[in-house]
Amino acid sequence: MSVKAKIGPSILNADLSNLAEESQKLLDNGADYLHLDVMDGTFVPNLTFGHPMVKSLRNKIKTAFFETHMMVQSPEQWIAPMADAGVNLYTFHIEPVEDVCKVSRLVQESGMRVGLAIKPGTEVKALEKYLSIADVVLVMTVEPGFGGQSFMADMMPKVEWLRENYPNLDIEVDGGVGPKTIECCAKAGANMIVSGTAVVGACDQRQVMKDMREVVQSYLK
Ligand code: DX5
Ligand code: ZN
Repeated sequence: MSVKAKIGPSILNADLSNLAEESQKLLDNGADYLHLDVMDGTFVPNLTFGHPMVKSLRNKIKTAFFETHMMVQSPEQWIAPMADAGVNLYTFHIEPVEDVCKVSRLVQESGMRVGLAIKPGTEVKALEKYLSIADVVLVMTVEPGFGGQSFMADMMPKVEWLRENYPNLDIEVDGGVGPKTIECCAKAGANMIVSGTAVVGACDQRQVMKDMREVVQSYLK
């Protein structure tokens, strides 16, 4: 299997007035990538930040891998500005999108990789027809919108099904993932781990990320 265990902290629950410092600290402590939660107040009942903030962050952090998790109603609208802001992986929800193939193609043509995300209520089979174009799939393990919610273990059959059928796919989980729930995600076959509260709030960020990465890697053959 060629997929690798990667830990991508979500900075949603960090001190956003110190975004660059908080992000740099996570990277210095071993984060493999940064997961940036973009919310538009329509697709989810919360509002965070958009491409101007991502661009400012990119100006300070030149080389890290940035994923934007687009919890927005019209992902097509933000492709060009996010590409310009230096985003590497543009992950959007398939639920509000009419033509997922077209949006995915536009993302890739703009130079970013494409991630396809599903909410807890969306069946994994809804992703199936897009798996040949997706670079990453994201299985949400909470209702998108807020950090610090409880992990939904009943989403694991989706991850298991994906891993069973697509051994080389990058499968990401997001929501309520931390030291207590990592085993469950790893066992199911997830390899890209988003973790907000559990990493950002940890006394020893480095140790928490290292431990989680090791658990995930141990299940990848
Ligand atoms: C939820 C976001 C997640 C979240 C993760 O809508 O997409 O990325 O912030 O935070 P925790 O790990 O605290 O659930
Ligand atoms: Zn997220």
